Amino acid sequence: MKRIVFLFSCLALAQPAFAAWAQDARDPGGVQAAHIHLLWLVMLAVTTIVSAAVLIAFLIPLWRAPRGNEETPPDPEAPLREERGASRSVIVAAVISVIGLFGLLVASVATDRALAHLPLDNGISLEMTGHQWWWEVRYTDANASKEFSTANELHIPVGRPVTITLKADDVIHSFWVPNLHGKKDMIPGRDSIIQLRADRPGTYRGQCAEFCGYQHAYMALVVTAEPAADFDKWKQAQVASAAAPTDALRTQGQQVFLTSTCMMCHAIQGTTANARKAPDLTHVASRPTLASGALPNTPDNLKNWIADPQKIKPGVNMPATALAEEDLRALVAYLSGLK
Ligand code: CUA
Repeated sequence: MKRIVFLFSCLALAQPAFAAWAQDARDPGGVQAAHIHLLWLVMLAVTTIVSAAVLIAFLIPLWRAPRGNEETPPDPEAPLREERGASRSVIVAAVISVIGLFGLLVASVATDRALAHLPLDNGISLEMTGHQWWWEVRYTDANASKEFSTANELHIPVGRPVTITLKADDVIHSFWVPNLHGKKDMIPGRDSIIQLRADRPGTYRGQCAEFCGYQHAYMALVVTAEPAADFDKWKQAQVASAAAPTDALRTQGQQVFLTSTCMMCHAIQGTTANARKAPDLTHVASRPTLASGALPNTPDNLKNWIADPQKIKPGVNMPATALAEEDLRALVAYLSGLK
């Protein structure tokens, strides 16, 4: 019992940041997930009926079998006598099975067709790249000055179709936001596309669904589906360059960032840091989590993360950054200000 309690408390701890967010294929937040949910319900109904029928077919002969006791004489002829109606029962069962399987096939093809026919007028498009172990998100635009990158979170407008081009940088990952659509693999060197639409505002949790190494479980993302006005506001804020530091501590923090190893992998728009190896930190403080869902985004967590990422997410590509305590404090103050 103690062990079970311990296991469950470990599981609870493993989900600190996203615990409250929906990740449930049975609660569709958009039309694509609704198609898949409907197929799931049909399959559940058919397989439940089949299981019940098989069980009943098994119980009836048990019920009907002749009863006996110690005095009943043996009947060695019994297995040799032909059963009444046996071949008819087998034929009926076979026909029902074929009809059932064919029905599931039709439902499955119809679902596939429905998924492929999402109307794409007035849609938005973006790119997602899977990395070990985080999601790079790039909002593309015909006007290059309106493009921007973020990490581990998507914002999408409710009611408008979203076309996401999926890529992978290192190994195969799989994009999966159960409330919005099914899974789609992200394969290195082969772009694929997933099209979805959120019809209900909400915050939906997503999870990498293809084992991609040590920290596969800590490769989560969050999708915020919001009204168009909120989405435009978010986008405008994300396109802007990072806020310049306004006080001495943050100015020092920016200097620490630009003179330490941080800038070899990260970018902050509006500064000289423009590496693309790791998440773009231009608006890092606006994100709900750190390290792809491993931690809620708080200054304390950020500090611990920078000081020793391996302790929080063993195997992660980010090395520990050895900094004097006051430099670390300044760096955290600077990054926490990047809303
Ligand atoms: Cu990426 Cu599992």
